Amino acid sequence: MQDKKNSVFIATSIDGFIADKNGGIEWLNMIPNPEHIDAGYAAFTKRIDALVMGRVTFETVCGFDIDWPYNKPVYVLSNSLKEVPENYQDKVELVNGSLTDVLDHIHTNGHFRLYIDGGTTIQNFLKEDLIDEIVLTTIPILLGEGYPLFASLSKALKFELVETKVFLNQLVQRHYIRIR
Ligand SMILES: NC(=O)c1ccc[n+]([C@@H]2O[C@H](COP(=O)([O-])OP(=O)(O)OC[C@H]3O[C@@H](n4cnc5c(N)ncnc54)[C@H](OP(=O)(O)O)[C@@H]3O)[C@@H](O)[C@H]2O)c1
Repeated sequence: MQDKKNSVFIATSIDGFIADKNGGIEWLNMIPNPEHIDAGYAAFTKRIDALVMGRVTFETVCGFDIDWPYNKPVYVLSNSLKEVPENYQDKVELVNGSLTDVLDHIHTNGHFRLYIDGGTTIQNFLKEDLIDEIVLTTIPILLGEGYPLFASLSKALKFELVETKVFLNQLVQRHYIRIR
């Protein structure tokens, strides 16, 4: 049986927001990046089997004027979407229910190393202590308000810092592993 692992790879403002109050994420690219360095994203996605993202993140990605950016299966968590929008039917699968049931279903499909994405989604996973790894990149901006990455938890969750990197002399990336 393969190891199961739920990972987060995400960027936030200094004050911990993943999107501004209008859902905007243009500030993620505010630091000039002429050589298009990806801050470890490609290497990270190589070691995952599938993505699990919230409906809002899915719709945000659908709104980008780009080709579908994922080459791994994508599971979209939603209670409101009843069917996958046209053009995405071969790209994503809708899932809902308890996270334990959702994960059981995904594992049954042979996907064990999962990239968990979306603020509310990550918060829901953290509430149930289902996140094993967080790669957190801080962008040097204070947004003041927006969509927060973290929310309250019923108990503290300890992590170990395994690596820190600086990209473009501006972005600090910390790699944490959950200690249980
Ligand atoms: N900074 C970054 O690197 C980064 C990364 C990812 C996303 N973002 C941005 O963050 C914003 C999205 O954040 P968000 O907090 O709105 O969260 P989200 O997690 O993308 O979406 C939340 C939605 O996911 C669904 N959901 C979550 N948990 C569920 C569960 N257990 N069962 C069923 N459905 C569940 C619900 O959909 P329904 O309402 O349909 O039920 C919920 O409203 C977007 O603007 C996106 O662009 C930024």
